[in-house]
Formats: sequence, C-alpha cells, structure tokens
Amino acid sequence: MYTTTTQKTEQLIAGIAENGYAVIEHFLPPATIATLASEAKKLQEIGEMHRAGTGQNSAAKPDDSIRGDFIHWLDEASISHAQQEYLQRMESLRENLNRNFYLGLFDIESHFAIYPPGAIYRKHLDQFQENKHRQVSCILYLNDAWRHENGGQLRLYLDGEKPMPYLDFEPVGGTMVAFLSGRFYHEVLPAKQERLSLTGWFRTRA
Ligand code: OGA
Ligand code: MN
Repeated sequence: MYTTTTQKTEQLIAGIAENGYAVIEHFLPPATIATLASEAKKLQEIGEMHRAGTGQNSAAKPDDSIRGDFIHWLDEASISHAQQEYLQRMESLRENLNRNFYLGLFDIESHFAIYPPGAIYRKHLDQFQENKHRQVSCILYLNDAWRHENGGQLRLYLDGEKPMPYLDFEPVGGTMVAFLSGRFYHEVLPAKQERLSLTGWFRTRA
C-alpha cells in the first residue's frame, strides 16, 4: 500500500509511543536508497570507511569479536544530494519527535556502515554509562533485494539484557528501524553478504 511521508512519520511516532520502537518501509525513494548505497561503496573504495571502535567516542581499538563494521561519519562540509535528502527527512522526524515526546532532541549524528560477510555487532546499548545524549537510534538499510538466508538481521531485545524475548528485523533496502537508545539492547547477526546501512542518532544537548 502506498503511504505518504506524513503517514510514515505518524506511523513511526505511534510505534515509538506504544512500543518504544518502530519499523518504516520505504523511508526514502528507491533511487535515493540506491544512490546512498553506491556512495557508501565508493567511500569504501577510496579508503574513507574505517573500522569502528567501541565504547564512548569509539575510543577503544577495533575488535572483531565486539563489532566488525566499517563506518564513515557524514560530514556537513561534503554532503551529497542524496545525503541532503536523508538529512532533511531526519530533520523533519526530529521536529516531530520533539513535538510528540518533548525529548529535547538537539541534533543528529549519522554514519554509513558496511559489515563485511561474517561481521557482527555484539549485543549492546546505544547509550553509554558516561554519556546518555543518544535518545533515538534510527537505522536505515541500503541493501538491494536482501533475502532472509543472507542473515544480517538486527536483533532487538525487548526485556533489558534478557536473551528473550526478541524481534529480528531484516536489513531490507529502504527500511528504517527506530528505537529508544536507552531502552533496547540489540545486536547485528552475521551476514553471508556485505551489509550496508546509514545510521542516525538523535541527541540531546551536550
Ligand atoms: C549500531 C547498530 C544496528 C544495525 O550501529 O549501533 O546497532 O542493524 N547497528 O546496523
Ligand atoms: Mn547499536
């Protein structure tokens, strides 16, 4: 069914209000998703994707047993047309989230991520002990024609750190999964194929 941008935003707000998480399909037009995917691959080709560290400010050294992805932070100074489209959409989402939940979301930080085959991101919370600025995590997947057998699901734990119950989301191109950063432990399961995403965190003021 065709849904407008406004309906998608309302869907996301309702999901967050009821469950603390939401899934939105076709968050951006397929052409924009394809462009973002090729930009991520291009960044990798030219050596602009770097192994992600762990912990606050990614201070710790990369560790495959914790997370195996390569990332590139969006840089305000060199934003492409497609990234601009993404950021505008996120800005509208930020305003809506603030209006509905009084979250005081101040800005967004976003990075592309590429998980090579076999890479994982072990169960974690996006809020840190020492720094709780991240309030809402939004992961936009950029994978064309992702199949369940490819793996790479996002596993969202619904009851704190407990191993059950959980929900698995397929990293299908154009789908966005959003959730409260301080509430949901989650992990990335290993994939058989390269897995692309563009992740944004809405933050409160430092
Ligand atoms: C993260 C993360 C999940 C995903 O980058 O913090 O949890 O599905 N990503 O890519
Ligand atoms: Mn995370």
